[in-house]
Amino acid sequence: MKNLLIISNWKLNGNKYLINSFISKISHIIKSCNFSIVIAPPLLYLDYMQQIIKSYKCDNYISLSAQNIDIHNYGSFTGEISAKMLKDIGIQYAIIGHADRKIFHKENNNTILKKFTLLKSEGIFPILCIGETKKEYQNNQTIAICIKQIDNIVKNLGILALQDTIIAYEPIWAIGNKIVINSTYIQKIHNAIRNYLMQINYKISKNISIQYGGSVNFNNVLNLLKQPDIDGVLIGKASLDTENFIKILNVINNNLYSF
Ligand code: PGA
Repeated sequence: MKNLLIISNWKLNGNKYLINSFISKISHIIKSCNFSIVIAPPLLYLDYMQQIIKSYKCDNYISLSAQNIDIHNYGSFTGEISAKMLKDIGIQYAIIGHADRKIFHKENNNTILKKFTLLKSEGIFPILCIGETKKEYQNNQTIAICIKQIDNIVKNLGILALQDTIIAYEPIWAIGNKIVINSTYIQKIHNAIRNYLMQINYKISKNISIQYGGSVNFNNVLNLLKQPDIDGVLIGKASLDTENFIKILNVINNNLYSF
């Protein structure tokens, strides 16, 4: 049985009301789930959500993630938050390199490397998003692009930096769309990523969690998780509807032995 990880990315959505109702509704089911759950609400609500999770005695079952950090730990950078601050309030994960950040905030490999380095120095698990654009996909460049994005970390910080790191393969063209995900195709990409890592360090390649993200929903989640190299899913839109998210958690829990 795989060590599954399910990540819910709220993006720029949610409020105190949703946090209360979401945690109260999932609190009983997550206690019977045999996999890890990470939720990434907007940064502003991390501390609040943490308190609500504690009040439902769910802190052993849910971890929280930031959706982003700054490339600095402190200083004159108005509007930013740092890895150090996340550590200070007890946040364990942070998403970096998400497609939204690349598209709308022009983040590149250099900024992602800086963020990765800061997270590692604070002992926070990076959820490193990688993935290709539609054009790169059409030009058959997917595997080369993914490997280049991982290499950005490996060449600069060494392969051991990938210990306690989660890789999230998120094809930019597949995020937030109502597209039909071909799980066999996604498996092929995940397998290529794992094989690439295996050539450098067998143990890391075996232990690293490679997530898939991009239009994951109740209908496709099982087929995805049944693929040998898909260790979990990063869910955006489909995780914001609490009833739907509960359905997804239940179907995963009920099929754990087929993964
Ligand atoms: P989606 O988002 O599930 O809505 O496609 C995934 C993501 O952006 O992380």
